[in-house]
Amino acid sequence: MAVGGGLMEEGEAPSGEETVEAIPQPPAAVLSNDVGATVLERLRQQPGGPELLELAEGRDDVELVGGAVRDLLLERTPRELDVVAAADAPALARTLAARLGVEATVHERFGTAFVERGDTRLDFATCRAESYPAPGALPDVRAGTPVEDLRRRDFTVNAIAVVIGGAKPGELRAAPRALEDLREGRLRVLHERSFVEDPTRLLRLARYQVRLGFAVEDGTAALARQALSAGALETVSRARVGTELRLALSEPQAPAVLEAMSEMGLLEAVHPRLRHEPPLAERALALLPADGSRRALLLAALVLPLVVRADGQEEAEARALLDRLEFPHGERDLAVRAAVAAVRLHRELPTCERPAELYILAADVPIEGVALAGALGAAEAARRWLNELRHVQLEITGADLLAAGVPQGPEIGRRLRAALRARLDGEVAPGREAELAAALELQ
Ligand code: CTP
Repeated sequence: MAVGGGLMEEGEAPSGEETVEAIPQPPAAVLSNDVGATVLERLRQQPGGPELLELAEGRDDVELVGGAVRDLLLERTPRELDVVAAADAPALARTLAARLGVEATVHERFGTAFVERGDTRLDFATCRAESYPAPGALPDVRAGTPVEDLRRRDFTVNAIAVVIGGAKPGELRAAPRALEDLREGRLRVLHERSFVEDPTRLLRLARYQVRLGFAVEDGTAALARQALSAGALETVSRARVGTELRLALSEPQAPAVLEAMSEMGLLEAVHPRLRHEPPLAERALALLPADGSRRALLLAALVLPLVVRADGQEEAEARALLDRLEFPHGERDLAVRAAVAAVRLHRELPTCERPAELYILAADVPIEGVALAGALGAAEAARRWLNELRHVQLEITGADLLAAGVPQGPEIGRRLRAALRARLDGEVAPGREAELAAALELQ
């Protein structure tokens, strides 16, 4: 079966001034039908796969595409199944949803829809062609042919489509070199303006590189460097950059993705003081208890250089940056609070002589902030607070003191706090009786 025929014209190969050489165009590859058949076989094993195969049986124009094909061929579990159809994708989605006993979510204007059942998600889109009114702007979208639909994609390994049903199930179309790149683990853009037109692909490149363990093809790496040094990232809305950063932070190997972004100069391009320091992040993550958020910790570490003076103005700037990137407020506040606290705590924690002092210093700090302070140098104190001290609680409550005759009012809180300090410093044994005695004895 011919693959890739006509997807790219002569002379469209990506090239980079600094690499000199254009990425060579392959001869039309010939593949066996096995690849497409393998995709369909593996699709059948996916939740929703059998229903999708059945749905597409009578149609020639329904194709599985993008990350789903890539992942099935790599024997990875796709995050979602991407389906394109020549027409009427929302109607297809509705029919499938009805068969699965769920509702489809439809965006009629864009000709897209998705169907979710449990952890399974199927995305439907009508084949489209894109043109970019300006570099970095959202593309103008119009209905397109399946070939155009592949052409608009980011990397060759994401530009493979397999016909699901109709007369030729398993028929495969792919960008030139797509299957070779997939087999050999390579990320390659489809054309030389790819990063200029859609600079979010620079961030996607780092994410795929780590997640798939793929190498960046030399010409593509050169194009990425050129686009970046020409300021491509400044042409994209901060919201879209933020979306990519959040996707990076959600990756299982998020620290490695951030490292790849940092090495490419992407973080610096987003903000000159945004940093990912792998040893710092690694130490902080190692200290973070299971109830902490790895994602918030990594974000706090990223903004740490923005708040080194830990003053209100810097804090406001860090917050404003995360607002421009459209981080949800909860995540923004947690990360900034953690970073600001870490700057203060890493100096103050090691000066504590008594556990109760440690406890009080870190009492209102998110655990991500304490872990970060530990990574900045106060490891021992941070570990002690995170693993031991923060869990210390009195067994008695104010009600016990009231019952023992202490008058209602601030006296109750003062005695409870003093008893807790004594407990933390090991001056009072655990247990209600000892605690109550300590609380009542105190002056
Ligand atoms: N795509 C693109 N350029 C972008 C975003 C997406 O070309 N800026 C195309 C790619 O072909 C991609 C597909 O749209 O494979 C679906 O996008 P997305 O769901 O973000 O990526 P997946 O490859 O499916 O990756 P993931 O496994 O992360 O979902």
